[in-house]
Amino acid sequence: MKEKILIASGNHNVYREGNYTVKVFQKGFPKSEVLREAMHMSLVEGLGMHVPELHSVGLTEDGSWAITYDYIEGKTLMQLMEEHPEKLEEYVDGMLDCQLEMFEKKAPLLNNLKSKMKRQIQSLDCINDITRYELLTKLNSMPDHAKLCHGDFCPSNIIVGEDGWYILDWIHASQGNASADVARTYLLLALQNLDAAYYYLNRFCERTGTAKIYVQNWLPLVAAAQLTKKRPEESELLQSWLNVVDTD
Ligand SMILES: Nc1ncnc2c1ncn2[C@@H]1O[C@H](COP(=O)(O)OP(=O)(O)O)[C@@H](O)[C@H]1O
Ligand SMILES: [Mg+2]
Repeated sequence: MKEKILIASGNHNVYREGNYTVKVFQKGFPKSEVLREAMHMSLVEGLGMHVPELHSVGLTEDGSWAITYDYIEGKTLMQLMEEHPEKLEEYVDGMLDCQLEMFEKKAPLLNNLKSKMKRQIQSLDCINDITRYELLTKLNSMPDHAKLCHGDFCPSNIIVGEDGWYILDWIHASQGNASADVARTYLLLALQNLDAAYYYLNRFCERTGTAKIYVQNWLPLVAAAQLTKKRPEESELLQSWLNVVDTD
């Protein structure tokens, strides 16, 4: 029996059912995407990431696809950041602890991040051919690594549980360059909270000895990828980031 709806989105609803969380997808949502989410979750669980355990994938009585995970008691980092803005630095450092642990893992079975971004940039209909060509040329020149990347690493995808921080929502996971995943997190933070974004990027660079330019070079590319979501409220900022193509 569904106890409480945790989130309702266009594609799915997330419910709590006792000790379980059930993500129920809308009818017509591609089965391959449901299975991809479950496959990614089981892969990263196998790599030793701290994630809610996956229990089952199947059809509900009314024929919707659903994935069942352990319910994790706790608040999302997004809730905590809203409730305790004074702890911003502590929270961002905690995010980095998780993300840097993730980058130590190799994920040869996941899709390649650059190939995915190439498909996204090719599919964009809100940029002209010159910008598309420049973005694809830039993408092609970027270093290609095989590190585990989350693809949507942001405070709403982290639950601060009693026994540590859990990372959710691995549908966009891939193997790729850590700086690309960091650029994506920077973008997601910047869309919500610029102070958090600046602090995050500075701390990533300090803690890993990475020059900021390595991350900044990915910004036009991650902005282009985010434009595929077609969110009008993000469009102006993302379009302005596309113009940073000549940073190198
Ligand atoms: N295993 C879980 N335990 C507790 N809460 C969860 C769990 N999975 C998801 N949630 C809650 O549901 C929200 C949405 O889940 P998520 O998997 O990130 O889907 P999406 O962001 O695609 O809607 C999370 O931010 C969290 O609040
Ligand atoms: Mg999420």
